[in-house]
Amino acid sequence: MLTVLDSINLSTEYLKNKGIDSPRINAELLLAHILKCKRLQLYLSYDRPLKEDEIILYRELLKRRCKFEPLQYITGSTEFYGLEFKVTPAVLIPRPETELLVETIVSNYREKEIIKILDIGTGSGNISIALAKLLPEASIVAIDISEEALTIARENAKHNFATDRIQFLCHDILSDALLKDNDFDIIVSNPPYVTLEDFQMLDNELKDHEPTIALTDQADGFSFYRVITSKAGFYLKNEGEIYFEIGHCHTQQVKELLVSNNFGNIQIIKDFQNIDRVIIGEKL
Ligand SMILES: C[S@@+](CC[C@H](N)C(=O)[O-])C[C@H]1O[C@@H](n2cnc3c(N)ncnc32)[C@H](O)[C@@H]1O
Repeated sequence: MLTVLDSINLSTEYLKNKGIDSPRINAELLLAHILKCKRLQLYLSYDRPLKEDEIILYRELLKRRCKFEPLQYITGSTEFYGLEFKVTPAVLIPRPETELLVETIVSNYREKEIIKILDIGTGSGNISIALAKLLPEASIVAIDISEEALTIARENAKHNFATDRIQFLCHDILSDALLKDNDFDIIVSNPPYVTLEDFQMLDNELKDHEPTIALTDQADGFSFYRVITSKAGFYLKNEGEIYFEIGHCHTQQVKELLVSNNFGNIQIIKDFQNIDRVIIGEKL
């Protein structure tokens, strides 16, 4: 008879030997997923024996995790800004550092009345949905080139009761086509910014499982910043703002792109690891 505690201990050892980081948490989260409970609830049922079908499923999921499939794709969900998001390999797994984009916009616009936001590269819809929940007067247009990603984003909006103020559109921001709306107060974007060279050096967990189009621009890492800053003058109202997530080493070049496209009052915000993470520019 294998209890919850026995199986967590055995699985932790197994994952550790296969080189998985944080093996205990991974073992617990996978088992919690199978038993349909919160991780902490496992601690109250350490002596519960596992059923045969639960053991079989647990083994299958552990094998997938050992092949470095991200935990969130195996369980099918993740948390962002305290909300639950469905994730599949069609969307980037929302990262905790991206919460800083949402937090910054919310603290700057909490007092404002009606605002209109354009989210470029919405993926799972995490940024738009969190903003819609926190800014009840905001209306949002969320675009992505991937229809598959937009399907997940729409499901996430429904799951989080945020469908009424978000319009999801399939649109390639790098194309010459323009959206019909051009009266936005804010553009927010966490674009693909890994260079083609750096992409080859990413961990297998990212490179082999997360969507390539979400990670790299297949060039120097600045393609999206270049295009978005050049189109932003058209899309934004006067004094409208751009909020970009940036990677390490991007600050100076993105700042120059903003300035050369008539954006001023540039602000840079660091994340919890003291890395430049958000850059803001105001249309002059
Ligand atoms: C880094 S992910 C960001 C996802 C999500 N906003 C987040 O912060 O977790 C970039 C997103 O841009 C989308 N994308 C890539 N190329 C694009 C293009 N040419 N036009 C519009 N969206 C694009 C990808 O499909 C992906 O969802």
